[in-house]
Amino acid sequence: MSAALQAGDLVCVTGANGFIASHLISDLLQAGYRVRGTVRDPSNTAKVAHLHAIAEAAGARDRLELVAADLMKDGSFDAAMAGAAGVCHCAAAVFFAAEDPQRDIVDPSLIGTRNVLESVRKAGTVRRVVHTSSVVAVYGWDKPDDHLFTEADWNTSSTLETDPYGLAKVEAEKAARAFVDGLPEDERFELVHLNPGMVWGPPLIKAHAKASPKLVRDVVSRTNPGVPRLMLNVVDVRDVSEAHVRALEAESPPARCILVAANGWMPELMQQIQAMFPDVVMGTRKIPRWVVLLVSMFDKTLNTAQLGKLVGRSMPMSSALSESAYGMTWRPLAETLHDTAAPMIEHGWARVKRRRG
Ligand SMILES: NC(=O)c1ccc[n+]([C@@H]2O[C@H](COP(=O)([O-])OP(=O)(O)OC[C@H]3O[C@@H](n4cnc5c(N)ncnc54)[C@H](OP(=O)(O)O)[C@@H]3O)[C@@H](O)[C@H]2O)c1
Repeated sequence: MSAALQAGDLVCVTGANGFIASHLISDLLQAGYRVRGTVRDPSNTAKVAHLHAIAEAAGARDRLELVAADLMKDGSFDAAMAGAAGVCHCAAAVFFAAEDPQRDIVDPSLIGTRNVLESVRKAGTVRRVVHTSSVVAVYGWDKPDDHLFTEADWNTSSTLETDPYGLAKVEAEKAARAFVDGLPEDERFELVHLNPGMVWGPPLIKAHAKASPKLVRDVVSRTNPGVPRLMLNVVDVRDVSEAHVRALEAESPPARCILVAANGWMPELMQQIQAMFPDVVMGTRKIPRWVVLLVSMFDKTLNTAQLGKLVGRSMPMSSALSESAYGMTWRPLAETLHDTAAPMIEHGWARVKRRRG
């Protein structure tokens, strides 16, 4: 029997309220799937109301169910996986610095992914798991500048000190593969990794503007006077969502697949956004490396060691495999940039200062 999924199947999406998962749930419901989303607390209206609204808009209230699960609790995903045919494992701790990076960043990815897969194994009904990994499981600073990264590359640079998030994603991806390879033949399911770059596009709720679109929000809000010369591998959240659906439905999906639409330098990308909203005063100036490192020492959300490795380094990602294997085409970059900033400005999710006159 093919492991490929089709409309009507039950898909469990972990971290359902998150930025990527919310778009994915919308696409899955519109494509006719039944969806069981996991959240830490289904009674937390601030986190789940938009998911019920998405289901309502898709005429699919009876096809969305939300259940509680926590990555750090053994057996927490058992009920969520029961009877599911497919899983999109999106939940992870998505930040770059923490007081205890092992506990707060690495463990939720690594132990959390093992917990999810153990529940999948116990369920015995899941044919395919799509794991949302990242380009940070691919990249590294041991390669020459301008090296074009492909799925053959693995991050061997990140450590707990320099880049706990990169370490978490690469360790989780490897642990997931080892878990499935270690299963007896009759318990095995298909495992597919997707490796998106910097995911931008429309935040659906204010909390999403604090996920990866936060970089844009900080520029729109002029949180800092400018931006570092970082290479960003940008992809639209709507394209990432579509790739997840294609990964569920493909007959022979590749083991891992980079999702990147455009490789660009952060100051230039932000200046494009500024040009789209000329009446908003943004902080788009390129700031020197030493200023970036100094500022990061006082900002708990930034990792100075990681920035020291990444500022000025050209790390383009190849999208060739996602285009050939999944037939991906990408939204124009201008549309992604516009649609990331527009809801923040419109809904007041960024602190906007207008130009006078
Ligand atoms: N956004 C990007 O640029 C990007 C790029 C590449 C890969 N990815 C990957 O894509 C996935 C989704 O990211 P996102 O951008 O959508 O991030 P997000 O909006 O922060 O979503 C993360 C989700 O994980 C949940 N989560 C965190 N810790 C948890 C725990 N201990 N137990 C259960 N759930 C937990 C969060 O729940 P709470 O709301 O309760 O915290 C949230 O639902 C992640 O695996 C991330 O590494 C993201």
